[in-house]
Amino acid sequence: MNQPLADITSHDTYVDGVPHETFAYLREHDPVHWTEESDGGRGFWSLTKYDDVLMASRNTDVFSSRLGIRLEDMDEEETEARRTLMEMDAPEHTRLRRLVSRPFAPKSVQGYEDAVRDLAIEVLDALDGERHFDFVRTVARELPMKMLGRLLGLPHDDLEWLVQRGDALIGNTDPDFTDFVVDQVDTSAYRLLPFRSPVAAELFEYAAIALEERRLSPTNDILSALLEPTSDGESLDDKALKNFFTLMVAAGNDTTRYSMTGGLLALIERPHILEAIPTMSLEQRKMLVDEMLRYTTVTMHFRRTVVQDLDLRGKTLHAGDKVVMWFTSANFDEEHFAQPFSFQPERSPNDHVAFGLHSPHLCLGAHLARLEMRVLFEEIARRWSHVELAGETERLRSNFISGVKRLPLEVTWR
Ligand code: HEM
Repeated sequence: MNQPLADITSHDTYVDGVPHETFAYLREHDPVHWTEESDGGRGFWSLTKYDDVLMASRNTDVFSSRLGIRLEDMDEEETEARRTLMEMDAPEHTRLRRLVSRPFAPKSVQGYEDAVRDLAIEVLDALDGERHFDFVRTVARELPMKMLGRLLGLPHDDLEWLVQRGDALIGNTDPDFTDFVVDQVDTSAYRLLPFRSPVAAELFEYAAIALEERRLSPTNDILSALLEPTSDGESLDDKALKNFFTLMVAAGNDTTRYSMTGGLLALIERPHILEAIPTMSLEQRKMLVDEMLRYTTVTMHFRRTVVQDLDLRGKTLHAGDKVVMWFTSANFDEEHFAQPFSFQPERSPNDHVAFGLHSPHLCLGAHLARLEMRVLFEEIARRWSHVELAGETERLRSNFISGVKRLPLEVTWR
């Protein structure tokens, strides 16, 4: 390789795009790569091959989530205070996941299709035939926000405020989304809050009020459902409820938004696919969405910590070492996917790891996100005969979420 390797830990690196050349180099020459952290962290092992990422995400006895799932090093007090479903191992994780999973199961999500379609139509109709607009702000940000609001039974007027809070958490490394940029200002006062952000406290407060209202008078939404004990009498305590609420606002919005945006970018470069959507079978439209998810891989990594020594591809990983599963590299592993850099709507099988895979931590919102993307692109294809870029795109400053945060379009309506 002629060029030096990109610093894959630096948030700034990703402003110019995912450094795919560096990941390709690592996959070929040093697939289990000791990675120094530019911000003074203690370093970690980067897993860049599909098989290794899959092995680590499945093998939760050795690759633990309890000590953190982001690169950031946290002391015991921080880890404990900020623990959500994501930072748990079995049996604690199994129990909580069982308590929250019903509204996100495939059967439940099937029942949301009409609501998603109504919202997608509402969002697209609100454009009122406008030819020039930013897709992220007016479409991709709106649909997941409205759908989450619907599922949680939250008033429409609160949604903008909530999503701004979610953005500040997930975008805690981008000055566009927060004044508390973690690697640029002193956030030590907030070290016990999710994402090291004071915004999490505002979300906790909001959640406490919403939950109290439902305790007094139950409604027909996910929050009321979470208050109900299960058939074996188990229920969530207050801390778990507030943490889960915050997790949904943070995990359910930006990820879906940026996957939609990445999906549209792929279609802009391949107009024949947009044209073909109305004639595709349901199965083909689902496959198209999965290829968008693989190609975009919005959640670029999650971290684990090894709890016992193990050898992997000639390297010894010691108990306590941080290990990062680079989903964004695994999804382009040429040993697993034929021509990974080519966008192939009918790729089959397409066992990508954009949601994690075969792991107890597999994205809880995967079915919902897939549904929202499919319905949105069906409705877009009905309305837009042509779409092209009308200016510069801008990317999120983050080594965690790969996202285009501004996508100016010129659209020709049917
Ligand atoms: C396209 C959109 C999305 C992407 C790319 C995505 C990606 C992911 C990934 C990679 C994981 C972790 C998997 C692992 O650790 O192995 C995850 C977990 C999770 N996601 Fe998503 N997600 C998306 C949408 C959503 C939505 C819409 C929701 C909820 C409304 C959601 C809620 C969660 C939760 C609660 C977890 C933690 C699950 C656990 O630890 O058991 N996600 N997501």
